[in-house]
Amino acid sequence: MENACPHLGGPLSEGWLRDGSITCPWHGSKFELRSGESLNGPATAPVPCFQVRVRDGWIEVRRAAVAATAPPGSALVHQQEVRP
Ligand code: FES
Repeated sequence: MENACPHLGGPLSEGWLRDGSITCPWHGSKFELRSGESLNGPATAPVPCFQVRVRDGWIEVRRAAVAATAPPGSALVHQQEVRP
């Protein structure tokens, strides 16, 4: 999932993982790890997610359902698929 919290951009990588969810360290929004769905506010929008796999020693990442999850101007729009 994208690192920036959809509320005010808090660093989700510094948040807390628990029971399949991550909690933003800034204001406590909680998101489901697999879907990015907001489980607890103040954030109401989901976190954009990526499809990831390891193949032949390479980590491949691609956008998942960009139109449904990425607001205009989101960093997600600028992500590129990684190919070996
Ligand atoms: S920036 Fe994440 S909850 Fe506010």
